[in-house]
Amino acid sequence: METVLSGIRSTGNLHLGNYFGAIKNFIKMQHENRCYFFIADYHSLTTHPTPEDLHQNVKQVLVEYLAAGIDPEVATLYIQSDVPEVAELYLLLSMNAYMGELERCTTFKEKARKQPDNINAGLLTYPVLMAADILIHKAHKVPVGKDQEQHLEMARTFGNRFNRLYKTDYFPEPVAFNFGVELIKIPGLDGSTKMGKSEGEGNAIYLADDEKVIRKKIMRAVSDSGPTEMNQPKSQPIENLFNIMNVVSSPDTVAHFEALYNKCEIRYGDMKKQLAEDVIAFTAPLRERILEIGADDAYLSKVARMGAEKARESASKTIKEVREIIGFKPF
Ligand code: TYM
Repeated sequence: METVLSGIRSTGNLHLGNYFGAIKNFIKMQHENRCYFFIADYHSLTTHPTPEDLHQNVKQVLVEYLAAGIDPEVATLYIQSDVPEVAELYLLLSMNAYMGELERCTTFKEKARKQPDNINAGLLTYPVLMAADILIHKAHKVPVGKDQEQHLEMARTFGNRFNRLYKTDYFPEPVAFNFGVELIKIPGLDGSTKMGKSEGEGNAIYLADDEKVIRKKIMRAVSDSGPTEMNQPKSQPIENLFNIMNVVSSPDTVAHFEALYNKCEIRYGDMKKQLAEDVIAFTAPLRERILEIGADDAYLSKVARMGAEKARESASKTIKEVREIIGFKPF
């Protein structure tokens, strides 16, 4: 049986990118594999949240995972900081991670540009912590979006390096996984190529957004002045709208607007209205469950406790074995 693991940073509500990049694939896999899904709250410290925000965000992500369909009875659903073994593996792996490779990491360079006043060591070693998350359960498959591809490559590097150094085959090679074969990247509504939590206002559609907000965001999405020639290549913002439509609408709907675009007869207002309705049809049941589960503190606390227990069982076994491999042995 294969082990599957994925996680999401607790830095805000989940958006369509998180859902289609990671959660959807995970949900499909949870019944057939040994599955771990966690909330990366240690990772969120790189941006220095207040204690109140940290706690609230972890709760919100937990609620939204459950609402999206992760089943805590079959998958191990846990909060990263409930499993301190992860921090120990992070320390051990960081001894074999080199400055040069960490500095070259695209996400580090991006973050350093975005928060020039807070380029902390945690940002630099972020891929090491992520490797620890994955290797602590010896995961084989990691459902993630395209933006995490380089991090997965680094996780493989650190695992393989450990194996070579200690002449073992202890860690399997984790691969980024998507059922569609290609990893996906859901674009933003602001014309940018990525939907993301840290992008500007109006970029992302959140699972918890209500109908009014969704309509407003989509009607205001960036577009262009329309095609002037038959079969004209699409501009980035229009490509984005079609890409979002591809994941929430029926193939017939997409084909209908594609044909109109190619004939130069498209009215973006109509396309956006349809897109908004299809997004709402997709998110409305989720939103309902988010509100329901969010009000059930006793259930959430039970889920978190159960997840921590199961995750620690697997993590402590790994740490015990890794310590022995490295040469830490009791006298
Ligand atoms: P995070 O929190 O930025 O995103 C969580 C997951 O959502 C995916 N995702 C997207 N997929 C498609 N299109 C988008 N626009 C989009 N935006 C986000 C991400 O690829 C990711 O799968 N470093 C991770 C969290 C993490 C993790 C891990 C993931 C920490 N340790 C171990 C897997 C395994 C992150 O910041 O993802």
